[in-house]
Amino acid sequence: MVAQIKFEKNTIITVFGASGDLAKKKTFPALFGLFAKGYLDPTTKIIGYARSQLTKEDLRARIEPHLKDGNDKQIADFFAMISYVSGDYDKDDGYIKLRNHMEEFEGAKCITQPHRLFYFALPPSVFLSVAKQIKSLVYAENGITRVIVEKPFGRDLESARKLQEDLAPLFKEEEIYRIDHYLGKELVKNILLLRFGNTFLNATWNKESIKSIQVSFKEPFGTEGRGGYFDNVGIIRDVMQNHLLQVLTLLTMERPTTFDPEAVRDEKVKVLKCMAPFDKNNILIGQYGKSEDGTKPSYLDDDTVDPKSKCITFAAINFEIQNERWEGVPIIMRAGKALNEGKVEIRLQFKDVASGVFNDIPNNELIIRIQPNPAIYIKFNAKTPGLSKESQVIDLDLTYATRYKDFWIPEAYEVLIRDTLLGDHSNFVRADELDVSWGLFTPLLNYLEGPDAPQPEIYPYGSRGPKELKEYLAKNKYSID
Ligand code: NDP
Ligand code: BG6
Repeated sequence: MVAQIKFEKNTIITVFGASGDLAKKKTFPALFGLFAKGYLDPTTKIIGYARSQLTKEDLRARIEPHLKDGNDKQIADFFAMISYVSGDYDKDDGYIKLRNHMEEFEGAKCITQPHRLFYFALPPSVFLSVAKQIKSLVYAENGITRVIVEKPFGRDLESARKLQEDLAPLFKEEEIYRIDHYLGKELVKNILLLRFGNTFLNATWNKESIKSIQVSFKEPFGTEGRGGYFDNVGIIRDVMQNHLLQVLTLLTMERPTTFDPEAVRDEKVKVLKCMAPFDKNNILIGQYGKSEDGTKPSYLDDDTVDPKSKCITFAAINFEIQNERWEGVPIIMRAGKALNEGKVEIRLQFKDVASGVFNDIPNNELIIRIQPNPAIYIKFNAKTPGLSKESQVIDLDLTYATRYKDFWIPEAYEVLIRDTLLGDHSNFVRADELDVSWGLFTPLLNYLEGPDAPQPEIYPYGSRGPKELKEYLAKNKYSID
């Protein structure tokens, strides 16, 4: 199996779609971040590939404004590693140029076992053409080929299976790295250690001690400029079926036998299979309207969306996990755009202590704030200091910015590109995980997009979401924040 071979020197990283948004904002900046911190070998060659006729200077002008924390020398050295090849995605010519370029580099270094990494910063409509061309013209026959594929991996169970079936004859599973960038976020990577590396948390991480779980995603902006993309996607496909479900899976899976990528992913698949079909009568959906002061546009004000669109920009979904650990625990996932703040967090509420001596003492809560300002804190009860006998709620607080001031905490894309270079699949999505997760979400999506689709509730841009949210949370036994 090639996946675990460490192979860092003289790697060629080709970024397809190099002229695009993801490439300039995330892919190249992540490569630069790794390079500047010494985690990308200076012998690496980076090739941008796209149809646009760009010079190296044009490419640099697009990327440079997005680079962070580097000095002039590092920036100059980084761009010296980059070249650009222009070509079509579905015709041989461009790939032949690319191959010649690669062989020139590898030939000059006498490389007999090339390591070629291909990053698909591309719309899904061209994934397959590019995958086929790679296989036929630039696959590293005697070396290592790895492809990083970006979401979306299909739009429902059927299309995800089709994509998988189409890719399977071209690349082995260990050659494919399906990126879900949430898996590269520091606090998401910390979940398993936090759970299984702390006896007191491990012992209470179950239905006996936990009253409810919430995974919530709030963004303070709307689709701004991405309406055309979003209208065909909606909030469920955009962040819930992938990013938030990954988080929930890590929160609820059983302890893996090892931290080997396959052992971890086996456990993720198992818990996904225990998730009950969603009850379509127990969801809350919304679409943002104008802000209350009229200064922010409604979703439908975006010229690129269908003026009658029922696309949902907010959803709250109740999960039931039917296994011994979680049966009966209310688990909610909620996500919304154009809300009152930007925050992604996990809240675990513990059960109340027995009454009697403690009549009105609040329950403990563990909060994992993924962003902004990553932190893990526990709300616990303590005696008010001094002569008072009153209790008070106090935070046991691990705020990363204060505790880990001197640590470099990499960006998610930096982590994941580095993992790919090292052949570590732990933080990537496996094909069977995708299959189960689409199986879970597809009936709900079919309902929400079908002839009987309910009308989403309109909530003001900049608000907390649909006004029924409080009622929805209460009905599902979640505490109200
Ligand atoms: P872009 O729309 O910017 O497309 C990237 C490049 O692909 C373009 O510069 C263009 O290059 C080429 N391209 C665009 N449309 C077509 C088309 N219809 N046919 C052929 N080529 C086309 O996409 P993004 O960079 O925003 O996203 C790339 C991928 O990453 C997508 O799968 C997206 O879902 C995913 N993604 C994006 C995020 C983001 O922040 N942008 C975040 C997470 C995932 P040229 O014409 O020069 O060939
Ligand atoms: C992307 C979605 O996958 O994730 C965006 O397409 C969303 O709509 C983004 O804004 C959120 O990522 P992050 O890292 O900014 O929380």
